Amino acid sequence: MKKTLSDKNILLAVTGGIAAYKAAELVRAFKKRGANVKVVMTAAAEGFIPAKTLAILSKEDVLTDESQAATAEVAHVQLARWADALVVAPATANTLAKMANGIADNVLLETILASAAPVKVMAPAMNDQMWANPATARNVNTLISDGFSLVEPDTGFLAEGYEAKGRLAELNTIVSQVEEELNERSAEDEILSHLKGQKVVITAGGTREPIDPVRFLTNRSSGKMGYALAEAARLAGADVTLVASVKRDCNAGIKVRIAESAEAMLSAVQEAMVDADVFISAAAVSDYRLKEPFTDKVKKQGDDDGLTLDLVQNPDILKTVGMAKKPGQIVVGFAAETKDLLENATAKLQKKNADMIVGNDVTKAGAGFDKDTNVVTMVRDGLAPIEAGPASKLAIAKEILKQVADIQEQR
Ligand code: C5P
Repeated sequence: MKKTLSDKNILLAVTGGIAAYKAAELVRAFKKRGANVKVVMTAAAEGFIPAKTLAILSKEDVLTDESQAATAEVAHVQLARWADALVVAPATANTLAKMANGIADNVLLETILASAAPVKVMAPAMNDQMWANPATARNVNTLISDGFSLVEPDTGFLAEGYEAKGRLAELNTIVSQVEEELNERSAEDEILSHLKGQKVVITAGGTREPIDPVRFLTNRSSGKMGYALAEAARLAGADVTLVASVKRDCNAGIKVRIAESAEAMLSAVQEAMVDADVFISAAAVSDYRLKEPFTDKVKKQGDDDGLTLDLVQNPDILKTVGMAKKPGQIVVGFAAETKDLLENATAKLQKKNADMIVGNDVTKAGAGFDKDTNVVTMVRDGLAPIEAGPASKLAIAKEILKQVADIQEQR
């Protein structure tokens, strides 16, 4: 047996369904591939398989409500930190519902809630009607958007005595999925580690161009993509400066500079670019601003009178930075398009002297403004376009940064 999981720490969370007896084989399968395995289980699971069996097979103490009650350590937090992969198998409908809602009323749920494991896999097993219930589907979807991946139950002979969907997936399928995700994660970590210590400057949000002291011109950009890029770059160990037109919650390790207008954003970016390695222009910068914003609030004129605003062009931040880029600096822009995505993105690559343009068709399902997901086509000079998504904006951000690291490697 190949040691494909050598030295990986796998935390197996076993919940109380009839398939819990298969946890013994799952522990063996992970161990055979070289993994360290620890088990946490619910009291209900103990009704199907003794903790002692899993302790002997894993060669580790099993965490249960009872063992937790008798120890002075905060075992669930330690266990949660230890794991490279959290595998909930079998996952009952009840546990999935609690997980989806952050409920932690037993030691298994406490451990799951405390876990920041980079790989999280759930393998549900339950009665077919419970699996088909919209509440279960809702909970599973919530967990997927929270970063869990799903090993779907199989159709097969259920404990109820008939064939239907709900049976725990084949153990090999569960093991392969965990292997695959851990491998992907290591490859991703390796490429992203190139960004460690680099200074990355990112813009986010739709700029706000003042009309008068209370009104401004703006657009539908929420800033989510730029904030996700900042978080992904921070996770990769970069020194991140985020120049944003809008405030959103973010990790304290990210240096946020609020700059509302295009002009303010340009000067904050130029200041940050002096010693930067990478610039990513995710902001939706308004192409125009008022020639002269009103100093007082504009009042309604006569009943039928209109109002004409005199606009002038804003500086193009991406182009300015692209044209002034120093050797070694990487510049990435976005192209939000509603048609001819590839042509427009390719043209922008040249026009703005960028190393990559991330095109997104904002009309596509799962893409665009204020969404939590995105679908992108990354265009680099001389390479075939690279597609990513639909996926969470954080996952897309990591794909973009992988390309940035690749551009640096190719130089
Ligand atoms: O030309 P277009 O606005 O489609 O280009 C989009 C890209 O250029 C985005 O990366 C955006 O952040 C950047 N941009 C800019 N300054 C502008 C207009 C766009 O930095 N005035």
